[in-house]
Amino acid sequence: MRYDFDTPIDRSTTNAEKYTKRPKLFGTHDVIPMWVADMDLPSPPCVIEALQKRLTHPILGYEEMPTTAFEAQMDWIQSRYGFSIQRSMMLLSPSVVASINIAIEAFSAIGDEIIVQPPIYPPFFHSITNRNRKLILNPLKNEKGEYRIDFEDLEAKITPRTKMLLLCSPHNPVGRVWSSQELETLLEITQKQGIVVVSDEVHSDIVWTPHTPLYTLSDRVVTLQGIGKTFNLSGIALSTIIIPNRELREAFGKVYDTFHLGEGNILSHIAFEAAYRGGKAWLEQLLVYIEGNFALLEDLARRYPRCMRFVKPQGTYLAWIDCGNFGEKQLFEGLVKQGLGVSMGHHFGKEGRGFVRLNCALPKSIMQEAIERLESFCRSEKF
Ligand SMILES: Cc1ncc(COP(=O)(O)O)c(C=O)c1O
Repeated sequence: MRYDFDTPIDRSTTNAEKYTKRPKLFGTHDVIPMWVADMDLPSPPCVIEALQKRLTHPILGYEEMPTTAFEAQMDWIQSRYGFSIQRSMMLLSPSVVASINIAIEAFSAIGDEIIVQPPIYPPFFHSITNRNRKLILNPLKNEKGEYRIDFEDLEAKITPRTKMLLLCSPHNPVGRVWSSQELETLLEITQKQGIVVVSDEVHSDIVWTPHTPLYTLSDRVVTLQGIGKTFNLSGIALSTIIIPNRELREAFGKVYDTFHLGEGNILSHIAFEAAYRGGKAWLEQLLVYIEGNFALLEDLARRYPRCMRFVKPQGTYLAWIDCGNFGEKQLFEGLVKQGLGVSMGHHFGKEGRGFVRLNCALPKSIMQEAIERLESFCRSEKF
């Protein structure tokens, strides 16, 4: 079956925040929204059909997540990584960021230190500071567009009060898929100090380089995975927390239970199972499609090397573009003037200054329009 990613879909009849928040963020409706990380592409038809079928039944009372839905994710993991996880290791969450907050409560106390690796998805910062923990920065090293973990700096930053490291794997926004070797080194450094690594792997299916789930390397880790990014189902709000180690699971579970989050909802259960069971071919086609959009951007960056430097990400549908020859204000205003609504790099920490993040999960014709607007920006703005 060929999936149609080419036909643009009007989201104005929905409350898609990527569109509704344009006036607030960009001062106008008149920008192609390339900021928030959801796709302007339709979810797998098998998911939509399963949801429609469920809604032919008129009662939507409390329901339990069926065992078959958990098994769908377990089978997905088995077939992608050749690794078995058990149902008993899995908990459900309506939001990966909520799971991060629970982990912070479970594995640290007020005043303890938690490490993050900027530039980074902004809720990593807020989740730590909102809970009165100390934010410790272990910035990534940018070696000519190739990002690496600074292990020396990491070791130097650890103190007896360091309790947790919040890892983004694959990394939003820089697009790195960490190699198993890098992850092993990270675990070696942190585990000898008793630091719990919480690995946000919500982007782990959108990759062009093999991803290593952290639970395949150690049982003393917390891994967050879900259907939100993979199948464009963020509004369905269901993800999993995978904790193989019983002691860590109990510590997490104690806090988790106090929030009474519930175990997903009827529609999320249906979407979750349908996606993991039937979404493989759709995902394969999607990855090729997004690579095509990145190729357009690579071509533009080759033609305007002083204006933008872009290295195709190893994972995520987010392009992280170095536009450091422009001033921040000039960059933002110039792009809005050309009709582009992007995420500014400094939102991801000061290490992101001079960068923009562009969401490339959209129909090719809109991507081409965005490329034309970027080209006009490069031509019209002076350094
Ligand atoms: C790394 C990362 N984690 C978490 C989220 C959000 O997940 P959720 O909507 O399940 O809280 C995003 C969304 O962009 C993300 O990029």
